[in-house]
Amino acid sequence: MSLELRGITKQFGSLVANDDINFKVEAGEIHAILGENGAGKSTLMNIVYGLLAPDKGQILVDGQEIKIKSPLDALAAGIGMVHQHFMLIPVFTVAENIVLGHEKTNRAGLLDLATAREEIIRVSKEFNFEVDPDALIEDLPVGIQQRVEIIRALIYNSKILILDEPTAVLTPQETDELLANMKKLRDSGRSIVFITHKLREVKAVADRISIIRRGKVVGTVQPSASQEEMASLMVGRPVDLTVNKADGKPGKTILEMVDLNVLDTTGRALASKINLTVSAGEVVAVAGVQGNGQSELAEAIVGLREHLTGSIKLSGNELIGRSVDECLKAGIAYVPESRELDGLISSFSITENLILDTHGEAPYSKGIFYKPAMAHQVALERIKEFDIRAQSANDPASSLSGGNKQKVVLARELSRPVELVVVCQPTRGLDVGSIEFVHQRLISERDSGRAVLLFSTELDEVFALADRIAIMYRGEIIAIVPATASREEVGLYMAGIRTATAKGGAA
Ligand SMILES: Nc1ncnc2c1ncn2[C@@H]1O[C@H](COP(=O)(O)OP(=O)(O)O)[C@@H](O)[C@H]1O
Ligand SMILES: [Mg+2]
Repeated sequence: MSLELRGITKQFGSLVANDDINFKVEAGEIHAILGENGAGKSTLMNIVYGLLAPDKGQILVDGQEIKIKSPLDALAAGIGMVHQHFMLIPVFTVAENIVLGHEKTNRAGLLDLATAREEIIRVSKEFNFEVDPDALIEDLPVGIQQRVEIIRALIYNSKILILDEPTAVLTPQETDELLANMKKLRDSGRSIVFITHKLREVKAVADRISIIRRGKVVGTVQPSASQEEMASLMVGRPVDLTVNKADGKPGKTILEMVDLNVLDTTGRALASKINLTVSAGEVVAVAGVQGNGQSELAEAIVGLREHLTGSIKLSGNELIGRSVDECLKAGIAYVPESRELDGLISSFSITENLILDTHGEAPYSKGIFYKPAMAHQVALERIKEFDIRAQSANDPASSLSGGNKQKVVLARELSRPVELVVVCQPTRGLDVGSIEFVHQRLISERDSGRAVLLFSTELDEVFALADRIAIMYRGEIIAIVPATASREEVGLYMAGIRTATAKGGAA
């Protein structure tokens, strides 16, 4: 079946989330919708799936206009959706979840448990999905949970499948499996709308790609288009995606962790047996699927965790037992995962945020006197250096976009005299242009002789920046590999598959 959208417009207050969108997915086509965060992708798909009502516009299936007022209407018209955040109930089985369903289809008495089990087995066989209908959702890896949502859509006989950012939560292997499954589904005659902001995936699987920027379709291209071309359409200006970097020239050891354990209050290990060094002039990336102890490890280094055993040394000085303030002053720049919560004080001005840790020191203060003019001048310099797009340095930090907030945190942290830079998910949620800036800046930090420890769940980022890669799985570093390692190898470690200790590149 084909799906066509004509003139879809949706406003939230004064914000035009979808602006006269025209878009067509042919039968048997994988059509990717590419766009930055906030471009309007989910809004558009929620309209198609009946979760939002458009202000204007038409939806046509096989050339016939249809009215979709609820997900039930969408399913009846052959449209299924796998959401960005799964809607499965963890303590129920696969079959129970499929019967229950988030659209309350069971009210119509469509499926009983026995039929659901049979159907799951049938669909699983057809597509080699290997899903046990009686497994509890909470026992299944995320990749399999996602298959359950896809199976659900297939059981309801969806001919058009919408996948909203389906790879965001997957390991590289799970992503590859999903992309392969999408091709199988296409070859079985279904149409797929694949929403993402990842260029690599689009090129790997899409038949055509439509790019949305600020609520408008700005172009439709073939997968043979270059990543630069697609990125430029996404952000509306030329983008250079390659991170220019020479080989690192590691100097003396700056950070050294020996047999470090990070424990919770009950003594359970959140990160264990960590042995890792980072040298001056080197980027070490800690890769891993989210939730494998990376955040806890990063927090331990800057004194945010209380129950630690082992040792964390910065240029030979023990950090364990010191406060956050003392750790940072010892020479660490820290860019936390959640800049909204930990990195900035939203109600403070950009200037105040830029000097948050150092406002009590020269040159901003002399004795008890705070010198606002000096602070303002320094803020203007930083805003220029870090390309922070703001109306005024006096505006509150809350007025900035995500990318610009991140630049404020970076500007403040990197402007202090530090030896070690610890950055966590530094480009999460950023637009392609800001990603370009942050990456290049981290490399220049390395080249200026600082030690950089990067925590990232994005493999592209890890490979673009790292000199060495440490992979965390279930709280442990299960391998340290040189940046010349293959994506596949790192992906296997991320899934916990190869646990033989790789010594290559370990310092
Ligand atoms: N229910 C809502 N109310 C107000 N604004 C919304 C709502 N949903 C989305 N938006 C806004 O609409 C824009 C597009 O959002 P969305 O469709 O989620 O983007 P994408 O999925 O491309 O990241 C964003 O600026 C977002 O903040
Ligand atoms: Mg979205």
